[in-house]
Amino acid sequence: MTRKLLLVQASAGGPNSASRKLASLFVDAWKATFADHDVRERDVAADPIPHVAQAYLANMRSAPGRGDGQERRATFALTKTLQSEVLDATHIVIATPMHIFSVPSSLKAWADHIFHNGVTFAGSSTGVTGLLSGKKVVLITSRGGDYRPPSPLADFDMLVPYFRRLFAFCGVSDFASFDAHNAIFNAEDHAAQLEKMPDEMASFAQNWV
Ligand SMILES: Cc1cc2nc3c(=O)[nH]c(=O)nc-3n(C[C@H](O)[C@H](O)[C@H](O)COP(=O)(O)O)c2cc1C
Repeated sequence: MTRKLLLVQASAGGPNSASRKLASLFVDAWKATFADHDVRERDVAADPIPHVAQAYLANMRSAPGRGDGQERRATFALTKTLQSEVLDATHIVIATPMHIFSVPSSLKAWADHIFHNGVTFAGSSTGVTGLLSGKKVVLITSRGGDYRPPSPLADFDMLVPYFRRLFAFCGVSDFASFDAHNAIFNAEDHAAQLEKMPDEMASFAQNWV
């Protein structure tokens, strides 16, 4: 079986980005373990995803086949590509900084195109069925402050819980995160975590079947 990994990069920090470097190390460790792999990258910082706007929603609400078919196809071309990348993947790695306690808007725009009813979940009056079950997700984050309990900021982390719940809603139970804290508030501590994390991530990646 070919394992298909989708790597989503969201930091606008360029080559010095902590989350980018950690994600590259993680993916390299994973690739070294499994010969039969296929890795695809989506960089939402280098190649920004347009926000969902009025024309998009109007097309989304109109029944398929109605209105201008060409316009409809053009509107959803990128959405379909982004959705296929997620649906095709067996393993998903998302690398991101924390922005305002949560998801950078570039990454949220990506999610807005993908996580639709009938695509990643099926919702009805009787309940919700996740359509991504069986996929494995790893989230790699870096942040300026310290959100590890008992830090007073622990409850302010709305980045990891956001993705954990989003993927759980879509049927993914295999979710893990690696988080580097204190990039701004305590650079020495952040650097010490970056020293240790590659080993931890490598041993995880080697068993991430
Ligand atoms: C627009 C913006 C908002 C940010 N908001 C937060 C925040 O709410 N909490 C925090 O701890 N760090 C915040 N940061 C700091 C980044 O999360 C931190 O520098 C992180 O390590 C950057 O990761 P990277 O090196 O992968 O880009 C913010 C940075 C930016 C640019």
